[in-house]
Amino acid sequence: MSKLSSLGLVAAALLQTGFAFASVEPRSWEPFAGSHGDDFGVQQPLISGPVGDLAALSHSGYATLKHAAFPRYGVRVKKSKFCDGTVDAYTGYIDIEAKHLFFYFFESRRDPDTDDVVFWTNGGPGGSSSIGLFMELGPCRVTGPSNTTFHPESWNAYSNVFFIDQPVGVGFSYADHGEYVSTTEEAAKDIAAFVAIFFHHFERFKNRGFHLSGESYAGRYIPVYAAEIYESNKKLVAEGLTPINLTSVLIGNGCTDWGTMFPAYYEISCTSASVIPTFPISTCVDFKRQLQRCEKWYQAECVDRTDPINCKAAWEYCAGFSWTLYQTTGRNVYDITKPCIGSVCYALADDIQEYLNQPAVQAQIGVDPAAANFSLSSLAVHDAFFGVNDQVFPTQYYLSALLERGVRVLLFVGAYDFACNYIGVGRMATELEWTGQKEFAAAPLEEWVVGDHAAGLVRAHKGFTFATVYEAGHMAPYDKPVETLELLKRWLYEGKL
Ligand SMILES: *[C@@H]1O[C@H](CO)[C@@H](O)[C@H](O)[C@H]1NC(C)=O
Ligand SMILES: *[C@@H]1O[C@H](CO)[C@@H](O)[C@H](O)[C@H]1NC(C)=O
Ligand SMILES: *[C@@H]1O[C@H](CO)[C@@H](O)[C@H](O)[C@H]1NC(C)=O
Repeated sequence: MSKLSSLGLVAAALLQTGFAFASVEPRSWEPFAGSHGDDFGVQQPLISGPVGDLAALSHSGYATLKHAAFPRYGVRVKKSKFCDGTVDAYTGYIDIEAKHLFFYFFESRRDPDTDDVVFWTNGGPGGSSSIGLFMELGPCRVTGPSNTTFHPESWNAYSNVFFIDQPVGVGFSYADHGEYVSTTEEAAKDIAAFVAIFFHHFERFKNRGFHLSGESYAGRYIPVYAAEIYESNKKLVAEGLTPINLTSVLIGNGCTDWGTMFPAYYEISCTSASVIPTFPISTCVDFKRQLQRCEKWYQAECVDRTDPINCKAAWEYCAGFSWTLYQTTGRNVYDITKPCIGSVCYALADDIQEYLNQPAVQAQIGVDPAAANFSLSSLAVHDAFFGVNDQVFPTQYYLSALLERGVRVLLFVGAYDFACNYIGVGRMATELEWTGQKEFAAAPLEEWVVGDHAAGLVRAHKGFTFATVYEAGHMAPYDKPVETLELLKRWLYEGKL
């Protein structure tokens, strides 16, 4: 099953999790214990005004922010011009008791005081969001193991955007005693706390439209995280705090439902759904025969009933033969038009890992020594999630629930992807049960246009939009930066493509 490790991410790096937990010494950033008489206790540097005044943060030190409403939670943040150069960047940790989630936050290049806020996570499970940051939609792209270059089509062109290494155990995120979470529902609690604490301290962004976005396994994460944030708002309001203005979710090449994705593996490889069939005929015949078994087995053990052991076997059978057959073609599972070269199909991924392991970079962004050994992907987290069949869940029900509550949903899919391809996502979208299902399914699939060319196909009704991105693979913003940035801008501010 090791081949499955690459799902939504990067395979070979998986063997290196690398957690060196620092010995227990008093840390310089230990939260200030006393009270200042106002809501915030701040150490190094002391900030007297409201923390919303981010200009007060220094470029060199770590500020530790605490709030009376969250006595066991805190923020350690550093301000710099990291990566972007033209805007302020804030990097550091949201501390949720013994768990520490690392984030990068970049102000909008347009107008940080009015633009919406976008949350981004990569998938895996176990993948670091540095992939999204340094390869796809962040303010800079890594150009080698020790250098980056300005990225004009970064999503912070029109929004305040953050990237988070999650769940705990991924990337620079860590837990004091090495704890992991093993389900998306558990991880969602930390994310809801993270978001509440973030907006609480970064007062300037309160009430701003907030959008959760992600890719690949985030097709499972994002719907659940959004639901948790939505429900947690009741608690925030009850405590007299400002609720999170959760406006929409955006999922790029998401694997949300396996019942629709497994058959789609056949169609994307053995029909002209995307490009002419990539598999030899005999392989397609073999695929079809196994697919019939897979569908029956998956339905029986993972849908009709959910016996953990039988369901695991069924899921592994389905994913196993599809991915194994695909890989015999030597193609990139993230882009059927490209060969897979190198351990992870993208050489850039190795550079990102090397770049983030440089002590000077870590010092600039405030990495805790406990998490200094950076790996792009955590095998431990990956195994923990797959170990309990976290991936086998009809996560699309969360999407229905969000739509019913007025949270908009955008599914966008690079049309060349195999891993979480547009056939599967598109079918899940039309089959999604919600109040607007009939109208959505009847809506035309039309081209959306950027400049003088068609950028993909789109189907939409009310708050729900499904879109493909032409000539893009799994990491659509990597392949089509101009088009996906335009997609983001229109979705955030016009609600349609
Ligand atoms: C970092 O992680 C790698 C892979 O897990 C390991 O071989 C190496 O010893 C670790 N280095 C440190 C300093 O802990
Ligand atoms: C780093 O990249 C920038 C922008 O591409 C380039 O101007 C600079 O020469 C590079 N620096 C090194 C040390 O390679
Ligand atoms: C929430 O965000 C939306 C979108 O930016 C905005 O129109 C709305 O006014 C915000 N709501 C509140 C209560 O500020």
